[in-house]
Amino acid sequence: MPTEIWLAPLHGITSRTFRNTLSRHFGGIGFFMAPFLPAQTIGKLNKRVWQDIFPELNTALPLMPQLMGNQPEQFVDTMRMLNEQFGYEHFNINIGCPSSPVVRHTRGCGLMPHPDRVEAIVREITTKTTYKLSLKMRLGLHTADEGRELLWRLNSYPLNFLVIHPRLGDDLYSGTPDWDTFEEFYYLTQHPIVYSGDIFTVADYQRLSQRFPNMAGWMLGRGLLRNPFLAEEVQGLPTGDKTARFQAFHRDLVESLLPIRGESGTLANLKELWHYFANFTGMTEEELRNLLRINDLEEFTLFCSRKKEF
Ligand SMILES: Cc1cc2nc3c(=O)[nH]c(=O)nc-3n(C[C@H](O)[C@H](O)[C@H](O)COP(=O)(O)O)c2cc1C
Repeated sequence: MPTEIWLAPLHGITSRTFRNTLSRHFGGIGFFMAPFLPAQTIGKLNKRVWQDIFPELNTALPLMPQLMGNQPEQFVDTMRMLNEQFGYEHFNINIGCPSSPVVRHTRGCGLMPHPDRVEAIVREITTKTTYKLSLKMRLGLHTADEGRELLWRLNSYPLNFLVIHPRLGDDLYSGTPDWDTFEEFYYLTQHPIVYSGDIFTVADYQRLSQRFPNMAGWMLGRGLLRNPFLAEEVQGLPTGDKTARFQAFHRDLVESLLPIRGESGTLANLKELWHYFANFTGMTEEELRNLLRINDLEEFTLFCSRKKEF
């Protein structure tokens, strides 16, 4: 049976253009989760950011929108609008983002120490709408007791699944994930779980899928950026000439970004991505530093294409 693989949402990186270009060149992924959009009450909605999830521009794979907010009515209003305008019926709520401005405003992972507030949001959505709902969370913000309490409470609500990244918000992305606590959560919740975190190689995936055989799906984020063939490799698909395929993908990405982001926006986006691609192409730290110093798009892409064998 093919494994259900999701592209993890990475705000500022896995935007529509990236997702579409990725799906033109690489297989193995079944679903996209879009990076978070703000949940707002009707009068305050910023519809400009919805461009990322326009259905007519997101036809490659099923796409699930993700929302971030902290008030029940913000979620209900935004979901209703996205359903009426675009037909979306399944939404994910972000309670895992650990960035300090987000946490300070009691959004993202900042909600995890407040189970009453999360429960109020979930209750409002599940009683006032018929949309399918999932949450993306961590083990907690400061301690895993926050996650335990939340999981226990969420068992009473009809959620489609939970995505769990096995770190605390306080840990950001440092250290190794806490798989023992994740295992406890895996058995504590009655909801299906989609796993997200630190799958960088096929061996990582195999180790985790043996330990957690009943996972509803697997999310690949930084691992897939470091090696765009990772989903194919996990699925056991042939990868062929990796160098030629990566270079074709990269050319297509530049050409797709240019009309939307302009030269400087494209360059900024590529610089972000090359922090990850550098790993796959075997760039040394010094080469990467030199690459990131380049401020001309043509020179930048020329430098990238000099790496011939991956
Ligand atoms: C730069 C960056 C942006 C992210 N943006 C989001 C986001 O918008 N929504 C979300 O739920 N998670 C976000 N995440 C978390 C990832 O989806 C994922 O859970 C995390 O990176 C761990 O998985 P990985 O090791 O496979 O990357 C982000 C992570 C990074 C590094």
